[in-house]
Amino acid sequence: MSSTTGASAPNLSLNASTLELPEIQATILRPRPAPYFGTHVLLRVDDAQAGRDFLRRLTPHVDSAADWWMADNPWISVAITYAGLEALGLPKDSLQSFPEAFRVGMAARAKELRDEGVNHPKNWEIDFAKGQAHIGLSAFSDSENERRRILAMARQQLEGFSGVSVLLIQDFGAQPGDLNPLGYKDGIDQPPIEGSGVEPLPGQGRPIKAGEFILGYPGEAGVPLSMPQPEVLGRNGTYLGFRKYQTRVGAFNRFLRDNGSTEEERELLAAKLVGRWRSGAPLTLAPEVDNPALGADPRRNNDFNYANDPHGRQVPFGCHIRRMNPRDTELTRLTDVNIHRVIRRGTTYGPPYDPNDLSEVADTTPRGAIFLLISAKAMATLEFLQQEWINAGDFIGAGDERDPIIGLQEEGATFTIPKQPVRRRIHSIETFNVLRGGEYFFMPSLSALRWIGNLSETSSIEQREG
Ligand code: HEM
Repeated sequence: MSSTTGASAPNLSLNASTLELPEIQATILRPRPAPYFGTHVLLRVDDAQAGRDFLRRLTPHVDSAADWWMADNPWISVAITYAGLEALGLPKDSLQSFPEAFRVGMAARAKELRDEGVNHPKNWEIDFAKGQAHIGLSAFSDSENERRRILAMARQQLEGFSGVSVLLIQDFGAQPGDLNPLGYKDGIDQPPIEGSGVEPLPGQGRPIKAGEFILGYPGEAGVPLSMPQPEVLGRNGTYLGFRKYQTRVGAFNRFLRDNGSTEEERELLAAKLVGRWRSGAPLTLAPEVDNPALGADPRRNNDFNYANDPHGRQVPFGCHIRRMNPRDTELTRLTDVNIHRVIRRGTTYGPPYDPNDLSEVADTTPRGAIFLLISAKAMATLEFLQQEWINAGDFIGAGDERDPIIGLQEEGATFTIPKQPVRRRIHSIETFNVLRGGEYFFMPSLSALRWIGNLSETSSIEQREG
């Protein structure tokens, strides 16, 4: 084992990789650069042959995860919806080998995802239910110039294809200080993946079997998950949930103002909602006052569990990070926390967070985060998280309260902060992040992209009709 200080993954220790990294798309393993600049593009394919020709031209520019810990260059990734796989003319047998939730798409799974009320697909700004989003392309880079350059390159590959059109272009990028739309440092904890070539950072926990995140490898149950067929299509691929949130910054600031009388009280409340101070410092390690040096240190800012806080007096049971990764918290509904992990690629868009903006206009300004939530069973995992850990509270002793950051809050919703001698129950919590669109994508391996690009008209049509 040796040490490296790769630009985008500092302080990591190298280990031998047992995954086929040159086959796996970079975005699955590579963290965002800091700072980061990027663009998501959604494309529609009206002509299967044009779509496949475009993919064939694009694939040599899609980056793999080889040496991912060293990489600091811009990169692009490609993912395809079920409607996209149909539009590209995949053989019928292959199409049928995808799981049901992926095939019907995220909008049709609204009930299972608890995407109700303002979050319901009928209120989305992107009408994914029409099945027109086929190919998703994401460009990540560490500078604005590089973002433009790589996007121009992707555009060049599109030139001359009248059967492929652009549906949506969404730029994103880090806010000053690398903060998210509510002013927090994020992207800190990610699940460690066995065989990825890198040792977990302190506190990341034991490496999780690669098959939980990448198809074709054993998962936590000891066997690979079922994957799309033929093998060249499924192996080294994965699924992702694309979720676009609009952040209601005014409502969040008003909530802090109404429930905290000093700057210190408001910041402590903001920390109690997430489980970390806005600097990233975890409340378990800095329960009373913020410690920005701790928040900035990747070897310390994740090195904690909840063993010393069995009553949630430091980190409320219902806060965002204790719900999303309860670590060693004793759960009232037993489950193995390691099978509900996702790799998060959060991408912030819109103007930076302004703590002084209390206006209602700030609730509708286009600003928020788009999440790529990656897992070999992303559909099942997201639906589990949405039902059990985000929009319910029983599992962790938080009653019917919901996640204060991404839960859908109903009239009269509360957030409880356990305290001695009496707990504090805060009323008037609102939905601070509203879902504006979402879809399930399949992120194929590099070989699978080539396989799709090289499908011939006759083979795909014959098999689809046969
Ligand atoms: C705009 C919406 C969101 C905001 C403002 C937000 C904010 C945060 C912050 C500040 C952290 C702590 C820093 C870190 O570990 O990265 C965090 C962690 C986390 N978030 Fe979110 N988040 C949002 C959406 C989501 C969504 C949609 C999911 C998944 C469904 C999610 C899952 C997680 C997980 C798994 C963690 C790590 C918990 C841990 O391992 O300790 N978040 N989030």
